[in-house]
Amino acid sequence: MTKALVTGGAGFIGSHVVDELVRRGREVVVYDNFSSGSRKHLEGAAASGRVSIVEGDILDLACLGQAMKGVSIVFHLAANADVRGGPSNTWIDLEQNVVGTHRVLEAMRTAGAGEIVFTSSATVYGEPELFPTPETYAALQTSVYGASKLAAEAYIQAYCEYFNMRSYTFRFVSWIGERYSHGVVFDFVNKLRQNPEELEILGDGNQRKSYLHVEDGIRGIFLAIERLRERKNVINLGHEEHMNVKRLASIVCEEMGLGSTAYKFTGGERGWLGDSPFVHLDISKIKSVGFRPQIGIEQGIRRTVRYLLENTWLLESRGAKT
Ligand SMILES: NC(=O)c1ccc[n+]([C@@H]2O[C@H](COP(=O)([O-])OP(=O)(O)OC[C@H]3O[C@@H](n4cnc5c(N)ncnc54)[C@H](O)[C@@H]3O)[C@@H](O)[C@H]2O)c1
Repeated sequence: MTKALVTGGAGFIGSHVVDELVRRGREVVVYDNFSSGSRKHLEGAAASGRVSIVEGDILDLACLGQAMKGVSIVFHLAANADVRGGPSNTWIDLEQNVVGTHRVLEAMRTAGAGEIVFTSSATVYGEPELFPTPETYAALQTSVYGASKLAAEAYIQAYCEYFNMRSYTFRFVSWIGERYSHGVVFDFVNKLRQNPEELEILGDGNQRKSYLHVEDGIRGIFLAIERLRERKNVINLGHEEHMNVKRLASIVCEEMGLGSTAYKFTGGERGWLGDSPFVHLDISKIKSVGFRPQIGIEQGIRRTVRYLLENTWLLESRGAKT
């Protein structure tokens, strides 16, 4: 069986992709610079003897080219995954998410790797006016993170056209679950461990979002790859449910055994510049290949909180980042 390469394979989602590939008997190259990923996430998969780990940066074309030898499919997850930092650093998304993706495509072209799976985001829809938002929605951009993901999608599509590649671009809602290391649940658990009396909530707490548990997400990715055969596939991967941030905060507090935490809101409809007050994707396309989320949002949040409390090393190593 041919080899798969996973950029960002030591990260939250990437390490679950690696586990699934190993479970399916594939040989896997993990390509990661360990800027936010962890070797701990790979311990189980590495024990299979079918995983090789390359510590390298996606911007390093020579190193990437070397790692790409004999690879037929690339799962490209390495990115700047920080959705909030755009206004303070307007370059990093362009460098990591656009130039980085271009480097991955170039290495694939040279090595003859024909399939790419790309992790895009619901942020490419900016602040949509249509809910649930379908893949065909023509959006205006509201963040450089979203803009960089959309630009990377466009490069991937052009490479498919020129070089006979196939692509699976997944537009994700927020993922939660085991190995989760950034985002609102992480942020809340982190803050509440420091001060259980008061929780600062970005925005007015009425922002509504969908959250997808990593177990469901991984199943969705592999179902789509098996069953969708267009040359360029763009697929929303989300949940039929959504939840507002206040409700999410109350579940986190409950799961942490806190009964009297006061909420302090920073105010406004959005948590940060470029945040969308409502994220709810139309998932009819992925449902047409048999996908149904099995884990409700509330259950997923509770599992994530328990995981973080049992793995405080993750909170401590990434405490400053959300
Ligand atoms: N987590 C979510 O809710 C979510 C939602 C939408 C899209 N995504 C996308 O999914 C992908 C994975 O996200 P995640 O949540 O697992 O993030 P993560 O930070 O846990 O994983 C990213 C991984 O990429 C590695 N990496 C970063 N820059 C690199 C570089 N220049 N070269 C090599 N490796 C590099 C990091 O060390 C890390 O292991 C990202 O592309 C992200 O934009 C995530």
